[in-house]
Amino acid sequence: MPKTRYFRDHPARSGDRMLFKMEHYLELYDQLLDDWQGRSVDFLEIGIYKGGSMPMWQGFFAPDSRLTFLDIDPACRALALPGTSVEIGDQADPDFLQTVAATHGPFDLIVDDGGHKMHQQITSFRHLWPQLRDRGLYIVEDTHTSYWPGFGGGHRAPQSFIEFAKDLIDQMHSWYTEDDAGFPLSPVAREVGGIRFYDSLVIIEKRLKDAPVAITATNGQVTRSRRMLEVRGRRSIF
Ligand SMILES: C[S@@+](CC[C@H](N)C(=O)[O-])C[C@H]1O[C@@H](n2cnc3c(N)ncnc32)[C@H](O)[C@@H]1O
Repeated sequence: MPKTRYFRDHPARSGDRMLFKMEHYLELYDQLLDDWQGRSVDFLEIGIYKGGSMPMWQGFFAPDSRLTFLDIDPACRALALPGTSVEIGDQADPDFLQTVAATHGPFDLIVDDGGHKMHQQITSFRHLWPQLRDRGLYIVEDTHTSYWPGFGGGHRAPQSFIEFAKDLIDQMHSWYTEDDAGFPLSPVAREVGGIRFYDSLVIIEKRLKDAPVAITATNGQVTRSRRMLEVRGRRSIF
């Protein structure tokens, strides 16, 4: 059970800036971000619109947190709150993302609530994932657009963000194949600890790690081994 109802209660406490989120995200954020409340973080959200999420995130983290928001619309510049930074540019522009990361990164938490088009979500992920700290979370909102042709998606459309995220599942498991040539070890295996799919929300957890180890434990004696991987012939790991 989450300790608080911070996110669920927020809409009723909102001010004159409009917040634009799907309602069920708020319950999920109460669950998933339970341990993050009051922490001093480097945070980035893509997509400002009317600025309603800025006070929500600001009130959740420690007051000395460094919060960055970006949007393609120059009108959003005026929405910066004291203690926050606003950057104007295109989330699908690698140079812009590089500048944002060099100025404000690395980040503990990244939320993509921008244009929700496939190339935007994928380009932002590719360029911002390396800027996420170990044990950080990369959250992509409104992934239902993966099913909307108007956003570049479609059911099982290979270029959709959902299909991209499904492929990350395979890459995360690329330690465990017997096919060294056909399914090579991906760097993702060393960086992704988990991928959670919710309705319209994908959350990718960064967890820097070496090849997984199996343990046996008897009478307090613990042994560790990677034989499980070796016998499968995944020699490229070692
Ligand atoms: C859903 S709204 C953001 C809502 C806000 N995060 C909230 O929770 O209230 C999406 C925003 O993404 C911005 N946007 C659209 N395409 C973008 C792009 N290519 N790069 C950056 N921002 C973009 C839009 O201008 C719009 O303000």
